[in-house]
Amino acid sequence: KIGDVDFAVADLSLAEFGRKEIRLAEHEMPGLMALRREYSEVYPLRGARVSGSLHMTVQTAVLIETLVALGAEVRWASCNIFSTQDHAAAAVVVGPHGTPEEPKGVPVYAWKGETLPEYWWCTEQMMTWPDGKLPNMLLDDGGDATLLVHKGKAYEAAGVVPSAEDDDSEEWKVILDTLRASLSADPTKWTQIANEIKGVTEETTTGVLRLYQLAAQGELLFPAINVNDSVTKSKFDNRYGIRHSLIDGINRGTDVLIGGKVAVVCGYGDVGKGAAESMRGQGARVIVTEIDPICALQAAMDGYAVRKLETVIGEADIVITTTGNKDVVTAEHMSRMKHQAILGNIGHFDNELDMAGLARYPGIRRINIKPQVDEWVFPSGRSIIVLSEGRLLNLGNATGHPSFVMSNSFSNQVIAQIELFTKNEEYDKEVYRLPKKLDEYVAKIHLEALGGELTKLSKEQAEYIDVDVDGPFKTDHYRY
Ligand code: NAI
Repeated sequence: KIGDVDFAVADLSLAEFGRKEIRLAEHEMPGLMALRREYSEVYPLRGARVSGSLHMTVQTAVLIETLVALGAEVRWASCNIFSTQDHAAAAVVVGPHGTPEEPKGVPVYAWKGETLPEYWWCTEQMMTWPDGKLPNMLLDDGGDATLLVHKGKAYEAAGVVPSAEDDDSEEWKVILDTLRASLSADPTKWTQIANEIKGVTEETTTGVLRLYQLAAQGELLFPAINVNDSVTKSKFDNRYGIRHSLIDGINRGTDVLIGGKVAVVCGYGDVGKGAAESMRGQGARVIVTEIDPICALQAAMDGYAVRKLETVIGEADIVITTTGNKDVVTAEHMSRMKHQAILGNIGHFDNELDMAGLARYPGIRRINIKPQVDEWVFPSGRSIIVLSEGRLLNLGNATGHPSFVMSNSFSNQVIAQIELFTKNEEYDKEVYRLPKKLDEYVAKIHLEALGGELTKLSKEQAEYIDVDVDGPFKTDHYRY
């Protein structure tokens, strides 16, 4: 802690570089800057204490400083052990008006290359406010912050933390250790936090799935807004963001020529569509695997071969998972891959690839090539290149999605935070989406920034297609 700002980041002297990149990013994030202008004198988030768990990148720095500009107090951690950009983290701590010697920014607990115990420690610190204060808003990506509050409160009610939960993974052991330590230090910590929180806004598909599960079981402790399913989030960030950052991650990680190679993309949802396009853009021959006939047919109509992974694993030069599911690529699959084939995951959690099974494979050897790039050598002498230990490779090997697309996503985040904080009594303990009108507003700002011209409906035309002249222009079930 220096002055009023407590933090744990890699190196505060990186703040100047971070600030320069934040300045460039602000220009590329017109949605967030428009929200800053719109609310410059209103401060709708005054009184909000936002605990945020989301990749600590340059783009997230602009989000954090937008929340602060709107009146919020903020604490932050990353939602992945490899995704932090250390210069961005340093710049947020120092703040626009501070220096490394006298930081005046936001408490951040994040650095690139955390261990799992460090990761969960950071997540807890991000929700542990000084001077007896408690967070009253969560901003989550993947649901780890939400999970800690829900599990923490449940174990406090039971008076004990179980020795195993859900699965026996290394990560669960760490989560349970974290909660055991907090239970013995303060047996009502998570109950107090849960009672104070007015709501959570969730960024991604995987986190949203967890929220709907909690709501269905009647266990959701506070209202939630599903930011992912704003059209201007999932149909843009998940798709066009991935189209940009998947190739970026593979190139920075390996620099292997992609043209002419066989790339297998597992899953053809929003992320898979962007991933397949990204690989095709480089001239790869792309094969898609799917479980859903609708998405599989879309892939076929888009010109991709649709196959089972078992059939094609032996011919793939690159395999990318985008499913948000677990055990999609097993150790047995990996053992059948071509020599020096590349394997990476871009779905939220690392369990899409059976990394634990790979590590246990008889006679396997791991050679670290450089940070976030490992060669795993099978006893046969054949090896595969695994990116970011099976974690989100676009954030581990590269810098995630670019600013412009994140401005769409984060504008929805800011609007969702304002909604839940200022109109809290209108929300039950359920999962909501933002109204379409706000989605269209986010799209309009970004279209204008690109110089797009929007056609205006005449009154007669609007009546003919039964919409208002100013929108919303589609029904809720329209699919885009
Ligand atoms: P989605 O639900 O639109 O797509 C997932 C697709 O995978 C579905 O079509 C589903 O049928 C398919 N699938 C499920 N199990 C499968 C299996 N065993 N084999 C083949 N296909 C299978 O979800 P979305 O939005 O595309 O997100 C996917 C994942 O990516 C989530 O974990 C999400 O959180 C994450 N994500 C990552 C981002 C990043 O920057 N790396 C950005 C946005 C989302």
